Amino acid sequence: METSKRGQWGSSFGFLMASIGSAIGLGNLWGFPYKMGKTGGFAFLIIYLILVALVGMVLMLGEFALGRKTGKGAGAYTALSKKYSFIGWMAVISPFLILSFYAVLGGMVLRYCLGFLVQIIGIDGFAGQGSDFFSWLLYSDSSMLLFLALFMVCTMVIVMGGIKGGIEKFSKAVMPALGVILIILIVFIAMQPGAIEGYKFMFKPDFSLFSTPGDFFNVLKVASGQMFFSLSVAMGINITFGSYLDKKKSLQKNATIVPLFDTLFAVLAGMMIMPACAAFGVDYGQGPGLLFASMQKVFLDGMGGTAGNVMGFLFYFLVFIAAVTSSIALLEVLTANVVDRQLDKGKEPKRKKVSLIFAILVFAIGIPVALDALGSGGATVKAPYELLGLTTDSPGFAMWNDCWLDFYDMITEGILMPLGALFMSILLGWILPKLVKNECEESGHPFKGYKYFNFCFRIIIPVVMVIVLWTQIQSFFF
Ligand code: TRP
Repeated sequence: METSKRGQWGSSFGFLMASIGSAIGLGNLWGFPYKMGKTGGFAFLIIYLILVALVGMVLMLGEFALGRKTGKGAGAYTALSKKYSFIGWMAVISPFLILSFYAVLGGMVLRYCLGFLVQIIGIDGFAGQGSDFFSWLLYSDSSMLLFLALFMVCTMVIVMGGIKGGIEKFSKAVMPALGVILIILIVFIAMQPGAIEGYKFMFKPDFSLFSTPGDFFNVLKVASGQMFFSLSVAMGINITFGSYLDKKKSLQKNATIVPLFDTLFAVLAGMMIMPACAAFGVDYGQGPGLLFASMQKVFLDGMGGTAGNVMGFLFYFLVFIAAVTSSIALLEVLTANVVDRQLDKGKEPKRKKVSLIFAILVFAIGIPVALDALGSGGATVKAPYELLGLTTDSPGFAMWNDCWLDFYDMITEGILMPLGALFMSILLGWILPKLVKNECEESGHPFKGYKYFNFCFRIIIPVVMVIVLWTQIQSFFF
């Protein structure tokens, strides 16, 4: 994704791998299970799947089409008309905030990966804490900061050094390997006593939620945020991807395959973590630490010994690579945006300097996320609810103020992305209703399902986004 020199994808496969690689990441493995665990299993899963079909896939096609039509990245909206440039701006703030907590999590993944690596050669890698390491790590400020910095350095070196091509080739092998290790772990966990409860939590039909509108809207809001995050829609990324896509390629095919694979990985991650929680007595609803807390028990208490250490290392190594392929895309969008502007003004672009500045800013913004112990209380940095003078039992304690990570999430997934999606669907549904169809037909493929897409753009997406935004705003007033 080199925005300073306009190019095209060598092959459809390369395009698919790059977009799947950027879509699949911590969102699928870390975000999906914890949000499902926090809001109630089956109901979340169903709403999520419906949202992917009615909103995510449709928006992704719209973004690919916008990018290919205008040949621009986040500047695509401005290229259509100056009036729309604000939509593009919103798309830049989100990757920035996301990267700042993404890097904290990526750093934790790296810490676990190294912990298992040294355990293989017989050195204790988890500060003597074993499967309780997570609560220790949360309060270890020096480790949290060190690994946040390390993760940002890895991301920055790749973006600056132009070795992204190599990483992307590597990531073609990583995604399938990650799929295989997920399946091995799913099978292992399925054989543990008590695991069945996890499947029930996820798959046993339970429609009770749908009878209480307040709860239903809340799950809808969380699932919609997760859908934006995981598919990387409503933040300009797919516009950039589309702008490099050859006119001969089918947009619709790509906009179907990417969400399909992304969703498959999320569901697999759920099928690994929910039963693991059931079998090893981890609370489904514990929030952003769920992946780490549950898998640590699987590797150390469930498998144990060398097998546990080797599997733990492999798992976190693959998750780390999946996270890096996403974080380089995030840093790249931020960098490319400024570089494009410098080029437009006829200046010599300062690529390295720009990515260094962004990396430092992201690190700084990530500090509260790294030091608030995910809102567990009594940490070096107070969580938003503590600053508001609330306790975890107060009526105002909510998902947007329970820790800095969820706070950043609220600004991006809860507000900026639904707003961006709302404007975009109005643009593509009402103002320029033929844009997507015409762009798709450029390649000679007939546009399938015009009525469906048009109905989603015109009615479904705007209505869902208004409900989501309304629910989000309401949650501020307890
Ligand atoms: N979708 C990525 C994941 O699931 C995270 C992400 C969000 C992302 N926005 C992005 C990745 C933009 C690349 C570019 O982990």
